[in-house]
Amino acid sequence: MNDFAASITFDQLGSDPYPIFARLRREAPVVLLPKLDLWMVTRWDDVRQVLSAYESYTSAFPSLATQIFGERSVLKVEGDAHADLRAAVDTRFAHERIERATTLTREAARPYASKLSSRDELMSSYFEPAASTALAHFIGLPDVDTDALMRWARNLSAGMSNFMTDPAVHEQAMATATEIRQTIEPSARQTADRPDGSVLSQLLHSGCPPDSVRSAEHIMPTFIEILSAFLEPAAGAGLTLLALLQHPTQMQAIRDDPRLIRKAVHEALRWLSPNGALSRRATKDALLAGQIIPAGATVMAVIASAGRDESIFTDPDTFDINRNPSPNLGLGYSRHACLAAPVVGAIIAALLDVLLEQHPRLSLDPRRPHNLHGWKFRVLTNLHVRIGDPARGS
Ligand code: HEM
Repeated sequence: MNDFAASITFDQLGSDPYPIFARLRREAPVVLLPKLDLWMVTRWDDVRQVLSAYESYTSAFPSLATQIFGERSVLKVEGDAHADLRAAVDTRFAHERIERATTLTREAARPYASKLSSRDELMSSYFEPAASTALAHFIGLPDVDTDALMRWARNLSAGMSNFMTDPAVHEQAMATATEIRQTIEPSARQTADRPDGSVLSQLLHSGCPPDSVRSAEHIMPTFIEILSAFLEPAAGAGLTLLALLQHPTQMQAIRDDPRLIRKAVHEALRWLSPNGALSRRATKDALLAGQIIPAGATVMAVIASAGRDESIFTDPDTFDINRNPSPNLGLGYSRHACLAAPVVGAIIAALLDVLLEQHPRLSLDPRRPHNLHGWKFRVLTNLHVRIGDPARGS
């Protein structure tokens, strides 16, 4: 038993996980954390092994996600069932759709950017509504109100991070999933008869034999999972902006050449990975880095730590948009890697582009410090900036 690992608590990880990850990589890269009742895997190669060795580590096990979304969402199934759901919607998020994602995001973002003042908190006043509006159009759900979409995603994400099992948080997430089912099921019934090219329609029809559809019950957990990710691009954009504002020389490079934003987004997903750790269950006793992880154990593949692995990255704790080459696990790895991975960078870049076009002199507000918390999900709960526009009194 490693004494340091034995002492680690959720609270310590939540406030600043990176020094803990660094020490685990050095001293105990595959280790049981007894207080958390889970195994942590912190080095690059081992994390990739956990995420790709499906015979030993599975994502299909009962969890907060299966309770809240329903069983058998795309993330919680393996093999043919996973391939079937993924194939139904992969084309909707493919590289060919980057231009469309960019255009929709820019259109959605402009009105929110033009209303901003230094009084506003940037996550809730800009990134979250702009990203949710853009995604609603992108997946073909434009009639649901943006506030509802944001509330849904917020409640579902809170439920997914509810490791301390606060019953109020859990009930709210469960009630949100029920509300989504009730709101979406009429459209699902309509779309089952008349395909319309939306993601919902693709989940129902795509790849099915003629005259047959998947049932609403079958696809709803995946659809709810997709809705739960609606604030993720906002999280990525907030973290990228925070990193840039903390590194003024790199921010200036971007002001001089906005095409560099995509590199900044990529580097921010490594440096401050919003999804810090991905859960799996050991299907059998599994040997990893000299340790035997027993069958049935919960295993955390800590992508946030892999992104700081000294054997892969020079000076890994430094944010550097010019890293080359710059591999990245921020959007996951192997079969379950993020469904939206091909378009997410473009969505985040468009959110930042529009913001910096309209407010080129943004700076962090030293009187209202940002709040960054969490390790499985690293969440930026507030980001206050000075817009730098004297005409608006800031
Ligand atoms: C910055 C934004 C995002 C980040 C950092 C992110 C990150 C991730 C990661 C790390 C995984 C792997 C989970 C695992 O293996 O356990 C994942 C999976 C997934 N993501 Fe994202 N994501 C983002 C945006 C989105 C968006 C916008 C959507 C949909 C609208 C989405 C939908 C999904 C789905 C459905 C999966 C499960 C895929 C599967 O199991 O095959 N994500 N995401």
